Amino acid sequence: MSFLTIALQKSGRLSEQSVLLLKECGISISNGLNKLKTPADNYPLEIYFLRDDDIPEYVANGVADIGIVGENIIEELAVSVDVVEKLGFGKCRLSIAVPKQENYTDIHWLQGKKIATTYQNILKNFLSKNHIEAEIHEISGSVEIAPSIGLADAICDIVSSGSTLFINGLKEVETVLKSEAVLIANKNLNSEKKKLLQNLVFRIKSVKQSKNNKYILLNAPKNKVSEICKILPGIKSPTILPLADPEWCSIHSVVQEDVFWEIIEQLKNCGAQGILVIPIEKMIV
Ligand code: PRP
Ligand code: ZN
Repeated sequence: MSFLTIALQKSGRLSEQSVLLLKECGISISNGLNKLKTPADNYPLEIYFLRDDDIPEYVANGVADIGIVGENIIEELAVSVDVVEKLGFGKCRLSIAVPKQENYTDIHWLQGKKIATTYQNILKNFLSKNHIEAEIHEISGSVEIAPSIGLADAICDIVSSGSTLFINGLKEVETVLKSEAVLIANKNLNSEKKKLLQNLVFRIKSVKQSKNNKYILLNAPKNKVSEICKILPGIKSPTILPLADPEWCSIHSVVQEDVFWEIIEQLKNCGAQGILVIPIEKMIV
């Protein structure tokens, strides 16, 4: 029987949430989180735990069928893989930062300066697009200490919470690229593997959908139902159930997280009571 191999980051910003995503897709890994590779218990999937920088290459040459990495790495390495799905976590940006006491006015400050980075290709493009000539100093790690030891005037590195910059006395001055975790796949998967991938992507989409939506229940006076239904689009249309009190009914629907506070106000203005908002675990539309 055919199975898929997936490469996940062994330790770092994406590791925990990558495993969590599989779990939310109903795929459990009961042992082997510390191993190099482990099979899933209940899905034809084998998990490889690797250095994130190596994942695109391994997926491109078929050592792993699919993988989860930051877009930043895909962009930098320019490997030939399919980006199948954005995953909504691991959001960060690749930014240029300078020592906080510098009087940085605009991008021209960088002219003729020395910038340390592990993202030399992306940085090179960014600088040439902005007509800046600067010296790119490629280093393989601990980029954030380069200015303080006199190795560079600025750095170009990943910023997530911003605490690494803060601790090292740096300030963010330019955003070069925005990034989040993506699911990538080898370009030449056979048809069986493609089917397994489709199934996995279907599950991932359901999990993502459910996170964007909430299940809402409320009691409403009967004469306000049509007004309230206009506010609550639901997946198809809201469910309306009778209550013991003939003047009232219960309305159930799904609302999107981002518009939800606005809707709650409108509902209250229509006389809705007992509003419950419940997380959705999976959502198949
Ligand atoms: C990045 C970057 C910083 C850190 C920034 O590393 O190099 O070390 O994250 O995060 P913060 O703003 O929350 O402090 P990354 O996770 O990409 O790991 P890697 O470069 O070792 O692969
Ligand atoms: Zn890395």
